[in-house]
Amino acid sequence: MITYVIEGGTPLDGEVTISGAKNAAVAIIPATLMVKGVCRIENIPQISDVSVMLNVLKSMGASIQTVNGHTYDIDCSNVDTCSVHTKERIRASYYLAGALLGRFGKGVVPMPGGCDLGDRPVDQHLKGFRAMGAEVSIQNGNIVAYGGTRLHGAGIYLDVVSVGATINIMLAATLADGLTVIDNAAKEPHIVDVANFLNSMGANITGAGTDVIKIRGVEELHGGFYSIIPDQIEAGTYLAAVGAAGGRVLLKNVIPKHLDSITAKLEEAGMSIYENDDSILAERNGPLKSINIKTMPYPGFPTDMVPQLAAMLCLADGTSYINEGIWSNRFRFADEYKRMGANIQVSSKIAIIEGSKEITGAVIKACDLRAGAGMILAGLAARGQTVIEDVYHIERGYEHIVEKFCGLGARIKRVIGPDKTDFRGAV
Ligand code: UD1
Repeated sequence: MITYVIEGGTPLDGEVTISGAKNAAVAIIPATLMVKGVCRIENIPQISDVSVMLNVLKSMGASIQTVNGHTYDIDCSNVDTCSVHTKERIRASYYLAGALLGRFGKGVVPMPGGCDLGDRPVDQHLKGFRAMGAEVSIQNGNIVAYGGTRLHGAGIYLDVVSVGATINIMLAATLADGLTVIDNAAKEPHIVDVANFLNSMGANITGAGTDVIKIRGVEELHGGFYSIIPDQIEAGTYLAAVGAAGGRVLLKNVIPKHLDSITAKLEEAGMSIYENDDSILAERNGPLKSINIKTMPYPGFPTDMVPQLAAMLCLADGTSYINEGIWSNRFRFADEYKRMGANIQVSSKIAIIEGSKEITGAVIKACDLRAGAGMILAGLAARGQTVIEDVYHIERGYEHIVEKFCGLGARIKRVIGPDKTDFRGAV
């Protein structure tokens, strides 16, 4: 078993470089299936969700060469199967369906896994594929889609703002005949990134980043070069860590605009934030103030930042309210934070956090990716030692998180095996 052992109470100090965006990488990698030629992709984060996705492509016959730790040459020209077989289930596997429909007009792809955040339907993805002429069914745990040799363009109105459905439909429409218009599309930065990637390989997509995306199908995509955007949730996590533990940290390789909704809330809570072109300096010396948060699709406050902000707000003066509008299971971290002495009440979609003077270390379990990140923050802020179990959730989406926090002066150690108490050697 791998655990993280954290000795809390040390303010953070130093610089951290933000990695490429997980949610963009896990969509762009399957998108390479539609490209004839080599895609050189830079700024790919070293996380386990990316490894799973690369392994799936390899198993389908793709050639994948490592240029350096964050740059890969991916060539899917020789892929000749439209069936995906993998035991490892990640949420983003559903993007293989859109990519295979685009490339072959058909695809058999396992239903998605990923964090247990509540019911994670794919009805809007399937509605889009059907509108473009595919017959779609769920059989033996797979999405089975068949649309002849090529799909046709269509007008598709999404009933809910879905990141996954927007990207999946965009993928399938890229090589379809004619024009596809997605109405009520999601606007997240990684949607723009996927569209930019496809356009740089020859696609014709306009409007990504607004709620109407137009995709004019092209005959084929060609190889090229692309660099993935920085991860705004990873950046937000380090900003919230400064809020929780105190101190002063410079984040490098960020797009400050992508973080607007997060930095606004951190400033409201009493932090100082200074933005530059591609960096942000965050500082917290004084006490934290309570704030209220409502999660919304981008550009609203992201659901993926709830556990991290909640960790920080456990130590704020007063009562904070978090209203979660996207996922029913988002607050599963609350019981773990309570073990650390936090005062959190969850009632349906609302968490009420009564700030206290201190929280204390405990043995806790990461229950999903972002909850696990929030638990690190709680551990950094707590008095005494915190042991986090099930950290594989965290490593799905955060590159070298222990090393990065150590670089900021945190006392955190990755421990393999049963010994949870030996803290010697931690920096
Ligand atoms: C969502 C977040 C994303 C985050 C991810 C993991 C939004 C808009 N999206 O993305 O930023 O990285 O969770 O926490 O905040 N839905 C349907 N039918 C569908 C697809 C989705 O009803 O076919 C619903 C979901 O149940 C959910 C909402 O739409 O309530 C958003 O889902 P979606 O954006 O697709 O989720 P992710 O892409 O996983």
